[in-house]
Amino acid sequence: MNIEGHIDELRAQFPVIKRYTYLNHAAVGPLPLRVLDEVSRINQDKGYSGGLHWMDWEEEAEETRKIIARFINADPEEIAFAQNTSAGLSTIANGLNWEKTDNIVINDLEFPSNIFPWQIQAKRHGLVTKTVQQRNEELAIEDFEEQIDRHTKIVAVSHIQFSNGFKVDLQRLSKLAHENGGYVVTDAVQSLGQMPIDVKKLDVDFLATSGYKWLLSPIATGFLYIKKELIDEIEPSIVGYRTDENYHEYSYRTIRPALTARRFEHGQINFPGIAGMRAAIELLDSFGIYNIEKRIRKLVDHLIADISELRGLKVLSSMKPEHRNGIIKVGGLDNPDDVVKKLKEENIVISSRAGGLRISPHFYNTEKEIEQLLDVLSLLTKS
Ligand SMILES: Cc1ncc(COP(=O)(O)O)c(C=O)c1O
Repeated sequence: MNIEGHIDELRAQFPVIKRYTYLNHAAVGPLPLRVLDEVSRINQDKGYSGGLHWMDWEEEAEETRKIIARFINADPEEIAFAQNTSAGLSTIANGLNWEKTDNIVINDLEFPSNIFPWQIQAKRHGLVTKTVQQRNEELAIEDFEEQIDRHTKIVAVSHIQFSNGFKVDLQRLSKLAHENGGYVVTDAVQSLGQMPIDVKKLDVDFLATSGYKWLLSPIATGFLYIKKELIDEIEPSIVGYRTDENYHEYSYRTIRPALTARRFEHGQINFPGIAGMRAAIELLDSFGIYNIEKRIRKLVDHLIADISELRGLKVLSSMKPEHRNGIIKVGGLDNPDDVVKKLKEENIVISSRAGGLRISPHFYNTEKEIEQLLDVLSLLTKS
């Protein structure tokens, strides 16, 4: 569906716009009305009929698993529902069969969720972690190349960096890791929902995400993708009845972990949240994720074109097409936290990160909203 041609209809889905110029999707995405309705539908059902419709919720969740799989070009059995990105990453870190000679490649631009699980494993098993150093807040493939060797079991990296939106070439990294017998684990929470993701094309081995940012889904929703042939290599570290291949059978027996990613779900899943996540993905799908990426690009282009006109401000995010997206970091301010506060007084919401402003519009934002931000920034930088 053409976004510009349906912008009013689209914006009517977002109650957040009634009060705010909301340009902060790298922090927390607001919920569209249809997502609120779906969360409420399941909660109301539980309120008025207890667990009578439990099996319907299970069936709906399985349908959502298929929708998620389609969204990232995976198979449904490669998807496990997870509470958040950190849980997905920890599932992989805890479940791998580590050998003393293994090393792990991380980087110093990364969000802690994709650092700490690996550090814990390194400590537990006496492994070496190798840290790729950022260069001017960017990550160079050559630096990964230097660190990856035939003992590298894991290369852990975000698809898009949280602080400045730097997008890494996952396809090249996967190739590098695989040539050395290692795996790539990616955190996709800053990319999923703002651009197409094709796990087969990227050839990543594991992908973890939350739904609460660009995917416009409820808090504590998310999923973990695991390449089919690797599912059996990851030992479930938190175990429950859902781990078993026959999870509706409650009798005493010896566990046989499912050969699908469901083995990582252990106990009851978040039916209201999952129903909300489905509604959010369906909304994104109805406009088309390629159109959404294009629309965000257009808004960001507008922002970039005008921001350097403002005194002292400059865009610090990479402007190379292969690295940029909907997260823009702006520098040149003495105190970005104060600017964020003053913008909030005008009901304009952005964040400060790593010494700069982080601006992150989504597809339902408008050029007018970008101009509102620029106007207030212009006043603040003049004073
Ligand atoms: C890159 C990245 N990973 C993970 C998270 C949050 O992790 P979780 O989904 O576990 O809450 C954030 C939150 O800002 C993030 O930016």
